[in-house]
Amino acid sequence: MTAFDLTIRGGTVATDQSVFRADIGIIGERIAAVEPALPAGLRDLDASGRLVLPGGIDTHCHVEQRSGMGMMGADDWYSASVSAAFGGTTMIVPFAAQHRGTSLRQAAHDYAALAAAKSVIDYSYHLIVSETDPTTLHEDLVELIRSGITSFKVYMTYDALKIDDAQLLDVFALATRERALVMVHAENNDVIRWVSQRLLERGHTAPKFHGTSHVALAEAEATHRVIRLSTLFDAPILIVHVSASDALATIEAARRIGTQVYGETCPHYLLLTADAMDQPGMEGAKYCCSPPLRDAAAQEALWRALKDGVLQVVSSDHAPYRFDRSGKLPYGDETTFKQMANGMPGLEARLPLLFSEGVVKGRLTLPEFVALSSTNHARMYGIHPRKGNLSAGADADIAIWNPDRQVTLTAHALHDRTGYTPYEGTRVTGWPDTVVSAGRVIVEHGVLDAAPGSGRFIPRTAPLPFTTSRQPSEQARFYRSLALGQQAGGGDFGAAYGNAI
Ligand code: URP
Ligand code: ZN
Ligand code: ZN
Repeated sequence: MTAFDLTIRGGTVATDQSVFRADIGIIGERIAAVEPALPAGLRDLDASGRLVLPGGIDTHCHVEQRSGMGMMGADDWYSASVSAAFGGTTMIVPFAAQHRGTSLRQAAHDYAALAAAKSVIDYSYHLIVSETDPTTLHEDLVELIRSGITSFKVYMTYDALKIDDAQLLDVFALATRERALVMVHAENNDVIRWVSQRLLERGHTAPKFHGTSHVALAEAEATHRVIRLSTLFDAPILIVHVSASDALATIEAARRIGTQVYGETCPHYLLLTADAMDQPGMEGAKYCCSPPLRDAAAQEALWRALKDGVLQVVSSDHAPYRFDRSGKLPYGDETTFKQMANGMPGLEARLPLLFSEGVVKGRLTLPEFVALSSTNHARMYGIHPRKGNLSAGADADIAIWNPDRQVTLTAHALHDRTGYTPYEGTRVTGWPDTVVSAGRVIVEHGVLDAAPGSGRFIPRTAPLPFTTSRQPSEQARFYRSLALGQQAGGGDFGAAYGNAI
């Protein structure tokens, strides 16, 4: 009989497919057996009365990253990864951001060093591409994708980060050839700028006007436009942080006709509404993110979209800006809605909120919860079956989940460094008692046992859309060739379709 280093016995295992009684045996960093009855290992965890889940994977969080406006988030790789672990998340995938005029390769290199020194859980990172010059696109980006960073984000808004439609086309052509997933922040920059200017001219500076300026129309228009642009090359894209019903309807319609568009939403869009921004003084700034919080109808539509598979992943979009001059209030009480850092914290509470509001309230089944919080992330971003999976051979990343544990969320009790939580006082049902990362018990009895730098970089393979046998349309082949056929490394497209140009 194999001797396990660690066993988890007596629990109910939940995967994205099913829920069943099984013990889990772990040898080293990996799961070695999942069977109805296993003998105790060198160390034995009693999971009776508990759910045994794949650890959460958060593929949209901002960690030790400077925003486009120059604000530094409060969390570094240590505090963010610790906070994630306490909430049952065992892998994070934040962003190495290229700021204009800087090298993408250097940004990734510097970011990798920070992560390697501090993360207590496994990690990868996406890139943020803000330039599309030949060095960025055809040297740095290609090299980074080929080294296992198989996704990157682009912005259609924020003056300091946005790329225009022609640049989007360049990016899509390259990403398609290199089999990388493009994550898109879809909001129309000109609409937001136009409304913002008029609001400010009239003295409307309060936080709630952030919502007025980031009108749902801006999200819907950009979502529609970027989906249409992506189809020129049949390029898969993922729209991040979907918040508005109109944008959602656009994604749904596109998917219905076979367009390769995927979508993400976040707990704050499911649980909070725009009126949170409308509070006395600057308090509303805590709830300002982009796209902004919407209304109850949008929440209903988002829950439905999770259930129907129109959206595939729920991420935190953890953006930990402190409620002081370093983040939300650079000019104190004089800060206008246009000057404050956008975003809110959410790494640690993501799984508990989704479980409590989704599973406990009957909106999601347990397998749907596992899919949305873990397995779909692994598939989407090229880390399945290693992650998000409780089969033999997978990394032993596990949350032993107490489905009855009630926790009142407070900034004080959470482990990030933002200093506030938008969920202060919210009671959730369901919390991880014990968290296992690559075979190590890293959280138990509310105590962390993991050293900075003990997490590992996980190189990623091709994202989900590239794992099917789908063939691009004739039109897409032609335009891919037009984009890349003459470029160094244009490869097959140039060879096969060069004559068509
Ligand atoms: O408001 C947000 N979401 N801030 C974080 C940056 C981003 O665009 O995701
Ligand atoms: Zn964004
Ligand atoms: Zn974000």
